[in-house]
Amino acid sequence: MRLILLGPPGAGKGTQAKLLKEKYGIPQISTGDILRKAVKDQTAVGIEVQAFMQAGNLVPDELVINLIKERIKEGDCSGGFILDGFPRTQIQAAKLTETLGTMGIEIDAVVEFSVDNKALVDRLTGRWTCTECGEMFHESARKSRVDGICDHCGGALFQRDDDKRETIINRLEIYKQETQPLIKYYKQQGRLKTVEGQGDVHEVFSQVCSLIT
Ligand code: AP5
Repeated sequence: MRLILLGPPGAGKGTQAKLLKEKYGIPQISTGDILRKAVKDQTAVGIEVQAFMQAGNLVPDELVINLIKERIKEGDCSGGFILDGFPRTQIQAAKLTETLGTMGIEIDAVVEFSVDNKALVDRLTGRWTCTECGEMFHESARKSRVDGICDHCGGALFQRDDDKRETIINRLEIYKQETQPLIKYYKQQGRLKTVEGQGDVHEVFSQVCSLIT
């Protein structure tokens, strides 16, 4: 199964991708996670993208397209994959279609998460993520038992640099301008499945599973 998860920052793409990965045994490919690791490790790519990410701007198309092209050719993607945060522009979407075409494969479904802006800002300003296992907590909706410590693995929790209120507003605006047009693109291809992303995580997951199977 080859899936794209589409939605604004905080819509729950990462949360649902992890559940889908467990259920279907296919890798989650999160461009955000890959880029954050590059920044943390201060690789050449990390140094190049750091300022874009900190400001909540998209990194250059070519860079992220090349990264995805390489990743989906890896062995663990032969049985399918979940794209979380890619594509995000019309150029990225067109290049993805072209690349998959040359590989003789195509996307099975594009799952779009619909969540209102107030909920998105609340989710992101309160998000805490584990440095070790990536588990996510929220300072009011899903508190960790001990402040700053992951319930699952004991790792330290951190807040993302781009989860500051003014950066979130910029990310939401960029989503509207650059990524939202992809909803129409995939609808025209007959691949779009829209999920009400406002409910409880497991309710949302049930909706996703019922739409893709
Ligand atoms: P990226 O890491 O992809 O960030 P994003 O798209 O802004 O998405 P988030 O990770 O913030 O949110 P999410 O939808 O995954 O929600 P989550 O499950 O975490 O990208 C970061 C940056 O990298 C970009 O700004 C850009 O600079 C760069 N980049 C990445 N990809 C790129 C590309 N293709 N092109 C160019 N640049 C790119 O959930 C959020 C919170 O809500 C959590 O606390 C979670 O616990 C909570 N939550 C989740 N679901 C629910 C629910 N149902 N109810 C209540 N709370 C929930």
